[in-house]
Amino acid sequence: MRSVAILMLVFVTRAYASCDSDPDGTNEQVFFQSCKSGETIVVNSVALFHDDGSNNYPIDVTHPVTLRLNMTNTGKTPLDKITISASVARYTDIFGICSWIGIPTFDLLDNLDGCNYGSTNICPMPPGVTVVNDRIDPASVQAIINILSTSEPYRITLSFKSGGAEVTCVTAEGKISK
Ligand SMILES: *[C@@H]1O[C@H](CO)[C@@H](O)[C@H](O)[C@H]1NC(C)=O
Repeated sequence: MRSVAILMLVFVTRAYASCDSDPDGTNEQVFFQSCKSGETIVVNSVALFHDDGSNNYPIDVTHPVTLRLNMTNTGKTPLDKITISASVARYTDIFGICSWIGIPTFDLLDNLDGCNYGSTNICPMPPGVTVVNDRIDPASVQAIINILSTSEPYRITLSFKSGGAEVTCVTAEGKISK
């Protein structure tokens, strides 16, 4: 199974050459959107910046980057036991069609703690607006960073769950530099 997966990866890497489009304006900037409507948490805004405040694009993955999420819990009750699962996809050409194809993340991004952000604990998350700063050190997921290329856009999908049920889902698309 493993060798089949690696072969697929090589195949996908080669096939990319003919896919030269600019999905959702990712040649210029990060693109965000909610993946589902009607969920309990609405994401109002998303921002990415480095420790020195800069937000140069493509995103420099050789330095820690902070993801600021401004969210509204539209429900009537606080949300506890929040977990985040992330998946990563690449924009690539498969048999002449450009689309988002998942890449392996080695279980590194499953069921992450969604309550604690540095010294801030947001759980239980009350109804109304909550702003969190999640500082991500790419070195902690180096195995994933190593397989990313600077020539194609990536999409990360974040699924937030509370007590096992999805409360919001957001996607971010962008290019990286390293
Ligand atoms: C969060 O978003 C809400 C709704 O757009 C806005 O009113 C509020 O000022 C924002 N808060 C912060 C700290 O950015």
